[in-house]
Amino acid sequence: MRTLIYGSKKHDGERSKRILVAGATGYLGKFVVEELKARGYWVRALARSPRKLDHLLGSLDEVVKAEVTQPETLDHVCDGIDVVFSSIGITKQRDGLTFRDVDYQGNKNLLDVARRAGVWRFAYVSAFNGQGLRHLDIGAAHEDFVDELKVSGLEYTVLRPTGYFSDMGEILEMARKNRVWLIGSGKHRVNPIHGADLAVTCADAIEGGDTEINVGGPQTMTWNEVAALAFDVLGKPAKITHIPAWFMWSVVRLIRLLNRHQGDLMAFFTTMATTDVVAPATGDHTLEAHYRSLASRS
Ligand SMILES: NC(=O)c1ccc[n+]([C@@H]2O[C@H](COP(=O)([O-])OP(=O)(O)OC[C@H]3O[C@@H](n4cnc5c(N)ncnc54)[C@H](OP(=O)(O)O)[C@@H]3O)[C@@H](O)[C@H]2O)c1
Repeated sequence: MRTLIYGSKKHDGERSKRILVAGATGYLGKFVVEELKARGYWVRALARSPRKLDHLLGSLDEVVKAEVTQPETLDHVCDGIDVVFSSIGITKQRDGLTFRDVDYQGNKNLLDVARRAGVWRFAYVSAFNGQGLRHLDIGAAHEDFVDELKVSGLEYTVLRPTGYFSDMGEILEMARKNRVWLIGSGKHRVNPIHGADLAVTCADAIEGGDTEINVGGPQTMTWNEVAALAFDVLGKPAKITHIPAWFMWSVVRLIRLLNRHQGDLMAFFTTMATTDVVAPATGDHTLEAHYRSLASRS
């Protein structure tokens, strides 16, 4: 039986679809909840730590407590739901679970429950060039789930975004400490995306449309330009050190022997920094505005 934490609002079945947002406590999920509510949908959020949703309680219609790696907690979470959106995945969590446990099996458990409950559409967030990252645990876990989704019989969309603004904040943090360390030459390009811009594409996908969507933000920059922007916003002279890619790959091999999960993450970031990560652009949030907002907060 699902644990209903919050559920005060009745559904007006004539007016709106019912959406389950899994991952609502995360960076992207929060923006997706806000975008769906702005469009008038009835939204249930799934969270393993519902207290993290306190700031959204005024807008959410229901909150259920569940841990996707424990199928017994998922009973009934999809009851009455039309569309499931999942941005569940491991990013910085350090709770001992693996990419296979969460990104693959956790989402698969949710998909199984969704099918049994008669959900007709499932939107899932993988990563840009996910198919090319199958040699990494993180890429394989995402893409093996995508394979399950494709044969599920449900209507589906796989979103493949570039890097999020949440991760770009780390460059600003390094600049605050007077030196930005970049992997490789810094000449590879990226068009990172703000969660609010990506949430618009996610909500469009929830409403229907293409089965696979590559998406990035409005500005394409090299990593050197991103670092220079961070220093500029802080009003500091730019100090950038490039770590040679060959050195990083040697470190990755060593770390993998000691801690496969951390080694895999490091391999993922090294790949992202040493290839162009540029997808069709959307949105209007600039990295400069994001950095200025972060800089003004401290
Ligand atoms: N960050 C990027 O630049 C980037 C780029 C492309 C694609 N992506 C992918 O986009 C997805 C969302 O990213 P994000 O930055 O929004 O991640 P995030 O902030 O870490 O959010 C992940 C969400 O998954 C939930 N979760 C993790 N393990 C769970 C479990 N065992 N049971 C239930 N919920 C669990 C988290 O809940 P808790 O709050 O309880 O941990 C959180 O709500 C991820 O799959 C990521 O790989 C990220």
